[in-house]
Amino acid sequence: MITTSVKELLKSTDYDKEVTVQGWVRTKRDSKQVVFIAINDGSIIHNIQVVANIESFLEETLKSITTGSCLLVNGTLVKSLGQGQTVEIQAKEIKLYGGADESYPLQKKGHTLEFLREIAHLRPRTNTLGAVMRIRHAMSYAIHKYFNDNGFFYLNTPVITGSDAEGAGEMFRVTTLDMKNPPKNEDGSIDYKEDFFGKETNLTVSGQLEAETAAMALSKVYTFGPTFRAENSNTPRHLAEFWMIEPEMAFYDITDNMNVAEDMLKYLVRYALENCMDDLTFLNNMYDKELLNRLNTVKDVTFKRITYTEGIEVLKSSNKKFEFKPEWGSDLQKEHENYLVEHFKSPVMVTDYPKGIKAFYMKLNEDGKTVRGMDVLFPYVGEIMGGSQREENYDKLLARIREMGLPEKEMGWYLDLRKFGTAPHSGFGLGLERLIMFITGMSNMRDVIPFPRTPKNAEF
Ligand code: 4AD
Ligand code: MG
Repeated sequence: MITTSVKELLKSTDYDKEVTVQGWVRTKRDSKQVVFIAINDGSIIHNIQVVANIESFLEETLKSITTGSCLLVNGTLVKSLGQGQTVEIQAKEIKLYGGADESYPLQKKGHTLEFLREIAHLRPRTNTLGAVMRIRHAMSYAIHKYFNDNGFFYLNTPVITGSDAEGAGEMFRVTTLDMKNPPKNEDGSIDYKEDFFGKETNLTVSGQLEAETAAMALSKVYTFGPTFRAENSNTPRHLAEFWMIEPEMAFYDITDNMNVAEDMLKYLVRYALENCMDDLTFLNNMYDKELLNRLNTVKDVTFKRITYTEGIEVLKSSNKKFEFKPEWGSDLQKEHENYLVEHFKSPVMVTDYPKGIKAFYMKLNEDGKTVRGMDVLFPYVGEIMGGSQREENYDKLLARIREMGLPEKEMGWYLDLRKFGTAPHSGFGLGLERLIMFITGMSNMRDVIPFPRTPKNAEF
């Protein structure tokens, strides 16, 4: 059945034309002679109003139309005299696909986001989740478009891997061994040679290491895929399963890397403002009156660039009482990130972190103490990106792997990249859900992904 989307119909000026629309009933209002039915099909946040003359329909037909039910309506598109819409449909034929009784949980407006999480299978039918999901789609498309237009190739990296790219060890094991009775080595440890892949495997925490292999051939690549971290942190900014975008560029140093990061983030914010205004306006009015201001500021402002050492100085010389005292050598906490962003009144790119708090692959600076890492700190969400120039020197990388006690043999292929035609290169990781939180103003990451995975929660 070919129908016209609500989005198309609301734009149409083909008055008196016969049209067909299909969608779900948001509200129904009876008056003496007519019934008003607001239909939404998810193509746009707005509903189209259907007007059904009581005399033209059987009473039971009109009765069966309830909030949440699904309809096909055939009728005439007419100029609307009512407020709030330019067109409406004068119904000629109504077909009920599926009714919904009083137990339909989305009867009235104004449910809490917490409640909606419990009905994640139905929440896409709310204005809020609909808006968020359309924006999530638009941002995913814009990310692919940005890279495509700038000469990058999309690369699919494995979800199941044997390596721990970030060296943080927060991984989900992948195994087919019998949990109750696993095969054992002589010393009592589990014998993974018996496992499906003949070795220990886990869900990937990052596609970066594999992306580097492709960058050393195609020059500019990016990954965009699901990423898994078994951090037991129940915060509004962490998921156990999230989506990460990781560009990797040969011949780019840390400054080139930062330029791409800044250009891309501004492009994405502009794209949202140019293409998602209906949804953004709704979210701005409903949840966060500062949202549009924030987006408009970020799209034009030049991001502040500071070193970690400068950042620590700023924090130390502030009068603010931090829960965690800023100290050279320790990681920046959320409160520190927030302070820096507020202090500079713009996104902040922090570089040259102490090597002790960053991953093994980051390029060592001449001082021998800091590495060429970069984090992008954003208003509202904190760290939105993390990246670095990579260590391209074989000996230095090997020394780092040994120093950190990483499995040297397992990393043979990664070291090979430095053995055969090594090149300076850089990249970063953008957390899709952090980006969507920033763009939508949603304050909990569980509300920007259809089915969130968090500690003790894998419903649906
Ligand atoms: O800073 P991270 O750990 O960097 C990497 O994984 C590098 N391999 C990236 C690279 O250089 N190619 O993660 C990158 C981003 C973070 O800045 C954050 O936006 C997001 O991924 N992120 C998470 N998002 C949701 N839930 C989590 N548990 C996240 N952990 C990281
Ligand atoms: Mg990071």
